[in-house]
Amino acid sequence: MKLSILFAAIASIASSLPAGAADKKAALSADPAVVKAVVTATFKGAPAEWQARIVPDETQAICSQYPNGLPDDLFKKVLATEKANVVLPADGKVIGDWKKGQQLAQRGTGGQFSDKPDTPKGGNCYACHQLSPKELSFGTLGPSLTAYGKAKGFAPEEAKAAYAKIYNAQSVVPCSNMPRFGHSKFLNEEELKDLTAYLFDPESPVNK
Ligand code: HEC
Repeated sequence: MKLSILFAAIASIASSLPAGAADKKAALSADPAVVKAVVTATFKGAPAEWQARIVPDETQAICSQYPNGLPDDLFKKVLATEKANVVLPADGKVIGDWKKGQQLAQRGTGGQFSDKPDTPKGGNCYACHQLSPKELSFGTLGPSLTAYGKAKGFAPEEAKAAYAKIYNAQSVVPCSNMPRFGHSKFLNEEELKDLTAYLFDPESPVNK
């Protein structure tokens, strides 16, 4: 989940390394070998079944290579790839239980190799977004989502778009820093529905 941030951080470190002054453009892109070496060293202690997650997929590799924005053709390519892997619920319903969604949004534990296997997992949305206006502290890496559903008129097609966004943020914004919660299989369909409800249920504190 935190890999995309790590990749972005490494990309910026790598891009600040001295490079041949002749090609200024090269200095702005991360050397994939440097990125690979740092990530491999960082996750040396991770369990064996995690090792596959350390290998970036094609999209992650492209995003690491262009930390300052994708050229047009790659932007289109990543968008198409990531759009194509979004799986919407077969029953067509995207609204679950907002109360469970709230718990998931506020929980930052689970899924890390330092966690116990039974540690409850969450989406850690508050680390990056304002959600309920009553929340005292929240991160600001992502935009405020206060009154998100209300602002979109609680429209069913907007709720579906939000579900797809949470499923795979990069299907909307290539190389987004937001984790791909459904695509990575970190959160399941029920959990994604609960999070969508937290954003779209008129009774959710997000919309009060
Ligand atoms: C690591 C930071 C991070 C986390 C964690 C995160 N997001 Fe995001 N999110 C972002 C960023 C950055 C954007 C803006 C860029 C983009 O749209 O991808 C964003 C955009 C969004 C948007 C689109 C907002 C709009 O402009 O319409 C929604 C909806 C959203 N996030 C929901 C969530 C939910 C729900 C969770 C928790 C399951 C979550 N995010 C977790 C960083 C994050």
